[in-house]
Amino acid sequence: MSETTQATGRTFTPPAELAAQANVGPEIYDEAARDRLSFWADAAHRLTWDREWDTVLDWSNPPFAKWFVGGRLNVAYNCVDRHVEAGHGEQVAYHWEGEPGDTRTLTYAQLKDEVCRAANALTELGVTAGDRVAIYLPMIPEAVVSMLACARIGAVHMVVFGGFSADALASRITDAGAQVVITADGGYRRGAPSALKPAVDDAVSRVEGVRHVLVVKRTEQDVEWDDSRDLWWHDVVGRQSAEHTCEFFDAEHPLYIMYTSGTTAKPKGILHTSGGYLTQVAYTHWATFDLKPDPDVYWTAADVGWVTGHSYIAYGPLANRATSVMYEGTPETPHRGRWFELIEKYRVTILYTAPTVIRTFMKWGEDVPAGFDLSSLRLLGSVGEPINPEAWLWYHEHIGGGRCPIMDTWWQTETGAHMLTPLPGVTTLQPGSAQHPFPGISAKVVDDEGNELGDDSTGLLVLTEPWPSMLRTIWGDDDRYVDTYWSRFGTDVYFAGDGAKKDADGNIWLLGRVDDVMNVSGHRISTTEVESSLVGHPTVAEAAVVGASDPTTGQGIVAFVILRGNAEAQGEGASGDELVQTLKTHVAKDIGPIAKPRQIMVVQELPKTRSGKIMRRLLRDIAENRELGDVTTLTDSSVMNMIKDKLPAAPSED
Ligand code: WT7
Repeated sequence: MSETTQATGRTFTPPAELAAQANVGPEIYDEAARDRLSFWADAAHRLTWDREWDTVLDWSNPPFAKWFVGGRLNVAYNCVDRHVEAGHGEQVAYHWEGEPGDTRTLTYAQLKDEVCRAANALTELGVTAGDRVAIYLPMIPEAVVSMLACARIGAVHMVVFGGFSADALASRITDAGAQVVITADGGYRRGAPSALKPAVDDAVSRVEGVRHVLVVKRTEQDVEWDDSRDLWWHDVVGRQSAEHTCEFFDAEHPLYIMYTSGTTAKPKGILHTSGGYLTQVAYTHWATFDLKPDPDVYWTAADVGWVTGHSYIAYGPLANRATSVMYEGTPETPHRGRWFELIEKYRVTILYTAPTVIRTFMKWGEDVPAGFDLSSLRLLGSVGEPINPEAWLWYHEHIGGGRCPIMDTWWQTETGAHMLTPLPGVTTLQPGSAQHPFPGISAKVVDDEGNELGDDSTGLLVLTEPWPSMLRTIWGDDDRYVDTYWSRFGTDVYFAGDGAKKDADGNIWLLGRVDDVMNVSGHRISTTEVESSLVGHPTVAEAAVVGASDPTTGQGIVAFVILRGNAEAQGEGASGDELVQTLKTHVAKDIGPIAKPRQIMVVQELPKTRSGKIMRRLLRDIAENRELGDVTTLTDSSVMNMIKDKLPAAPSED
């Protein structure tokens, strides 16, 4: 962590040319500070409303906010139709590239036709406003088309990342009450087709209420088929009319649910609504990235199955009439220069990605990007975890050619859009820091009692005013919403769960989660979720999971397990490699490959406090091979020696 918060002594002023023509200048901070609500109202006016709102914000019942009360709009109309109506139908919305190298270009006019067909198809399948639709797709244009089709008819989409297991999909379908699932036979990952439909078959067989499964043909893999339920996308969507008159919905009409890990084993269904969400994603995308709809070619290199994809592959860029790149596969397929090849091919001007990818590129070496023409790039973005200054500088030099400012954007699934970030034409950049609240956002660093801290101090990050794209609740669980985010410091202070430091100049540096949530390659995974998966295996009696710092993924999952007395009897070879392998595979299957522990250690005891709480800090010290900290609150400090004795000489790293 120390490296993350260490100033490099180097700062970067905005490039003069960019500053001269930037979408927003320094005055924006004063404007927003003078009248926060009219600042957001102006941002909302960038959208097209069927009916103007009566009240910008209703915060009479905190923490339940209503933005743009009384306003009506259609999110899909704002993302697609209005650009076509304004004569931009021929502009490319997406340059899509499949992993095998196949391509598709979708103009705004074509996107509009596809979205209308899909909206008609969903209506034919009985989907109406307010119904939930699960989407489990690879990174193909149909993912965005499906989301927009839902938005167009007022249905609530619930996208599940294709890397999640059948179990994870099933529990999300049940929690959201989805009756229709949109999936594909498979998608391409790491040079091979990777099946999706079997996970859907498995999930759907275990839950109540799914009436239809709409299947996109992508890989042409063999699929099991249930005639009573399964339908091919190309049949049902293909035969629809491209005409569809959209209805307008209330600004607070639900737009989507996105599940994210909390501190318990049960993921939280984060609910986003329409008017405020679209206002803030569109405005931040335009201001943070200085997006110019015409010359720019914009690329968020992330999966649409995460909030980054929702806000900055789909809604923000489309609302701003951006031309985007969308890529199906992994960065090393078929070679390590694939991303750079795409930047060169499409003349990408703005690239937005995660620090974990940058660190992977660093490992592969600067020769890889040096082999491509990256001169089209003018601005870079980072998201998902703190970017360590070393990675920042490498990104700046070897991808950005020393000329592109980097926007380190701090936000969360819950916040919906950027909350802390520099601005490209304004901020003198400080590598490693997300720096300042976005205009119109109130963020503070506070101590444990909630007192605001001055410069040069460390504490917790809180948001002290509601913001347009904030989550509205946890789906079906208002109490959990209040408890999780608004109880620590009262119902008008949002506790983000991140530690933060304010430096002497007032820059904010994020220090990672302060709760039991890990951040692996920019993906949030709860320690409890992995622990409950491990104890779900018949050989495991107890498990403790920690996120240990990892040079590539930010954090890696390290598990300590105590076996049941019968583990040996089950023929698993007790503490042997074979059992460790079995357990890793078990978690990967249970939750998804992203949750597979990097390392599992079989131990006799776990360090606990007198109240029985597992002391993760000590386990983290072991996992990171640090000297042990204070152990005086342990029930039995000899436990630690026992654990240390059990450590394998060289931890297995597969
Ligand atoms: C958590 C939210 C936002 C979309 C991707 C992750 C961490 C995110 C940064 C950043 C430091 C960051 C925080 C946050 N995080 N961006 N620029 N600097 N930390 O969304 O899964 O909801 O995770 O990611 O810890 O709380 P998410």
